[in-house]
Amino acid sequence: MTRQDHATRIEKLLAAMMLGEKIGQLNMLTADLAVTGPGMPADYMAELKKGRLGSMLNLYGVPLMRQVQRVAVEETRLGIPLFFGYDVVHGHRTVFPIPLAEAGAFDPELWEKTARIAAIEAAAEGLTLTFAPMIDVARDPRWGRIAESAGEDTWLTCRLAEAKVKGFQGKNLAAQDAIAATAKHLAGYGAVMAGREYAQVELSERAFHEIYLPPFRAAVAAGAAAIMPAFTDLAGVPLTAHVGILRDTVRARWGFDGVMISDYNAIAELMAHGIAGDLAEAAALALKAGVDVDMMATAYTRGLPVALERGLVAMSDIDACVRRVLALKAALGLFDDPYRAQAPVMTAERWTEHRAVARDAARRSIVLLVNRNDRLPIASPPARVALLGPLGDIAPEMLGPWSGAGRGEEMVSYAAGLRAAWPQSRIDAARGVEVEGEARSGIKPALDLARAADLVVLALGELRWMSGEAGSRAKPGLPGLQNEFARAVLDLGRPVVVLLSSGRPLMVPWLFERAEAVLACWYLGSEAGHAVADVVTGRWNPSARLPVTWPVEVGQIPIFYSRLPTGRPIDPTFRYSSKYIDMPNEPMFAFGHGLSYTRFAYSNLRAAPAQLREKDTLAVEVDVANEGRAAGEETVLLFVRDPVASVSRPVLELKGMAKVFLAPGERRSVRLSLACDAFAILDAKLAPRLEPGALEIYVGPAARAEALLKTSVKLVA
Ligand code: NOJ
Repeated sequence: MTRQDHATRIEKLLAAMMLGEKIGQLNMLTADLAVTGPGMPADYMAELKKGRLGSMLNLYGVPLMRQVQRVAVEETRLGIPLFFGYDVVHGHRTVFPIPLAEAGAFDPELWEKTARIAAIEAAAEGLTLTFAPMIDVARDPRWGRIAESAGEDTWLTCRLAEAKVKGFQGKNLAAQDAIAATAKHLAGYGAVMAGREYAQVELSERAFHEIYLPPFRAAVAAGAAAIMPAFTDLAGVPLTAHVGILRDTVRARWGFDGVMISDYNAIAELMAHGIAGDLAEAAALALKAGVDVDMMATAYTRGLPVALERGLVAMSDIDACVRRVLALKAALGLFDDPYRAQAPVMTAERWTEHRAVARDAARRSIVLLVNRNDRLPIASPPARVALLGPLGDIAPEMLGPWSGAGRGEEMVSYAAGLRAAWPQSRIDAARGVEVEGEARSGIKPALDLARAADLVVLALGELRWMSGEAGSRAKPGLPGLQNEFARAVLDLGRPVVVLLSSGRPLMVPWLFERAEAVLACWYLGSEAGHAVADVVTGRWNPSARLPVTWPVEVGQIPIFYSRLPTGRPIDPTFRYSSKYIDMPNEPMFAFGHGLSYTRFAYSNLRAAPAQLREKDTLAVEVDVANEGRAAGEETVLLFVRDPVASVSRPVLELKGMAKVFLAPGERRSVRLSLACDAFAILDAKLAPRLEPGALEIYVGPAARAEALLKTSVKLVA
């Protein structure tokens, strides 16, 4: 069917619809499999039969989906099919690393591949839309949702946004293995004050446009079918009702004609925000801003008829939303084939293939934070291993927050992974302490095991519910008695490798100073244990990097690499310079930090042309040599800085990345290209422009001045 045919069909339907049916198309209810807000306000089957339901969330599985869809198609007056949305965030049944972890792979091809697989599995269970990718730039480890994000960098988040949209949606939304992507949460949610969930956001307009908004533009340009406005506000206006952003910017300026889906109950929450006096006002505000689908507030079904009567909205406003919802259904092919998932597509080989990708994604996401005395890798199997700590043998925790359709018992725990890698070794697991609580009785037996072991693997961290939505922590360190336990283990002087599981950087500076080896394992999903074993044994040389600055202490937050210069840069000898008197300015680990089992050296940075004009592309080249003894993959990062502009520019901004795989002793030149508009800045009126003058180019592994090579070019008018 052509677009024109779709349009004709939609207009015909619209003409036949009664008001209740129109509003019904804008109503989304949960089937209650997973709930992230106030409970079920209405019985969805009853609503559906009355034509008062247009889409559902949290329902999947072919038999159930077919049953509900059949009612929509056969028992409602107009027979309009439903679409089914779910939070397929980092995999569906096969679970991939959480987004923050996967972002650390710095690998768009991988990001797209894992989204593609998630879409195949989700679509096979009848789903037609995912509430992903989450592309909120996140710079505050107190905020639990940093786990769902690509971290602190705007450029990196843009690349992830594009890759995920492409992966979920495939080439054609109507294909049986495609699902619609929802770019969320537009925008600025990551800046909630003090990292407290759902709190106020205080941002400059510049920060909003420069840092938080671009990933959404990238998602729209990549064809994202849907957008979810954030729960939060911007200068007092909740995004759910933000005409300036939703309608004027995203729809009018960017040309987004897809569907806007409110967050869970967010339309009703406009009353709690204090900008709507009742549900009718709330419904009118959201509708006027262009929010098409009301998730779980029933503000549209209950409030819009009243709003119409009061003249707060016009029928044409409602029609515009209905058209977009029907257009999405048409694009998904639902009018032609409402049951899209018919033939079983998930063969045994397919599952195996998906697990293999999960293992690869997981090992590519593990960051080697510390490796003193080359403690890792452990090439020959130790005779006795003590696997200690509360997270060593607890498969379901590997799911992380937002587990899709993942099943805890199908995850590979660290214990299972190490046992598979070292079948001859004796591996004793003991928790020692729990993640939470004050029980000490397990400490002594665990220490006894440690004493007798040739290697101690210490698995510490947070439980998966402690990050993700509503997982803000004011003290993002190791909960419970884990510090005490870890100290006691390290005091024994045995060789210790720490596996840190978390949805955020954890502030445990003492541990990083004392432990010989620490791996950031985040939540790695289905193949967690195998991936960790691959890294520990050296079968995989770690290549992941931190997509977020890792603070020493909570008091440094917000801390991120792309900061503006100060008029008084830090000078340890001068009191009146920008610094703390009780703590260094430097983080524990910089953005881009991540060790390897080999050593890469950078040299000979060059950039051409030296005089850059508007239509030019800058070619940047650097030589990278593997000076160590292991083969490995290096991620080369390219940063820029505009040292003198009409507005102060960040000290570094990521603008490019490349991968190079090198055998020991091998050297290669790596080429990155940069279109001139990478240097465009927003001027004082927030209009993009190129300003002539010198531009600095930095290349290296991480956002640390001493790790970067520098050259410069000149932008000429
Ligand atoms: C609330 C979350 O903010 C959003 O990200 C999610 O998609 C919805 N709940 C639906 O589960």
